[in-house]
Amino acid sequence: MTATNAWLAEDYAQVNTPHVKTALAALSLAGDALEQGGAFAEIGCGTGEIARTAAERGFDVWACDASPSMVDATRRLCAGLSVHAEVCPAEKLDLPQERFTVAHSSWVLHWVTEVDAPLRRMARALRPGGYVVLQWTGAQPRGDGPGMFGILREIAGSPKWKGLLAGAQPAMHEYPAEEVAEVLVDAGLEITHYEPEIVHALSAKGPGLDPAELPELRRRYKLAGFATQAAALGERADEFVDEVLRAVFEADRARLHHARIVARRPA
Ligand SMILES: C[S@@+](CC[C@H](N)C(=O)[O-])C[C@H]1O[C@@H](n2cnc3c(N)ncnc32)[C@H](O)[C@@H]1O
Repeated sequence: MTATNAWLAEDYAQVNTPHVKTALAALSLAGDALEQGGAFAEIGCGTGEIARTAAERGFDVWACDASPSMVDATRRLCAGLSVHAEVCPAEKLDLPQERFTVAHSSWVLHWVTEVDAPLRRMARALRPGGYVVLQWTGAQPRGDGPGMFGILREIAGSPKWKGLLAGAQPAMHEYPAEEVAEVLVDAGLEITHYEPEIVHALSAKGPGLDPAELPELRRRYKLAGFATQAAALGERADEFVDEVLRAVFEADRARLHHARIVARRPA
């Protein structure tokens, strides 16, 4: 099992409501593209809600995800609609050029090993006037140092966990917003919406970890962010997740830096 295909749709479906909501909010920033129809590329489709929404708005949707479980869920949710879903990691994107009115990817880039080539392929795939809509996390400037993902990687690589996580090392990466924007501009797009740092605190209560909040945070991260490691660790998953969450709060890194960028291929 690779780090990316461990995502299970039935687990993710329990925690995906905020993701879907914010994805729809980001899409609403794509000018009048949503009214135009045509082809819509959904990269990292998860359980398929965005693909379904786009198809219901009249788009022909091409959706992909690295996880077969997610692709199956998307096919089920979108049955009868103009949605073609296939297993394809973003690293292997091979989209036809100048085809799509919208290329959208929410909460996926930070799972992608290398984003330069996938971003350029998304940009090239837009028809004139088409939009790319991106949201991801871990977008803080490099100068800020490693955030939660760095702490996760450090703990997963420590002697206590390294052997147990041999096939499930964390696959999250940090991509600063300005670097992503530079690639898009270099690929010929103009940025129409730039939110480089939407800070999201893990806890609403303050900088320290409130023990009463730990069970819910643990549940959420086992189902999504740390799902691969949780699956590999079985009975010891809670211990690992708690260790990471405690370290994140102790290091005052319990803030996720999301970014949202919308860019357009000039008509
Ligand atoms: C947090 S979910 C987001 C799903 C969906 N975009 C949403 O907003 O609900 C992350 C998704 O990225 C997928 N994924 C992880 N690594 C990927 C990769 N390298 N290429 C494509 N998809 C990937 C996972 O399988 C999962 O469906």
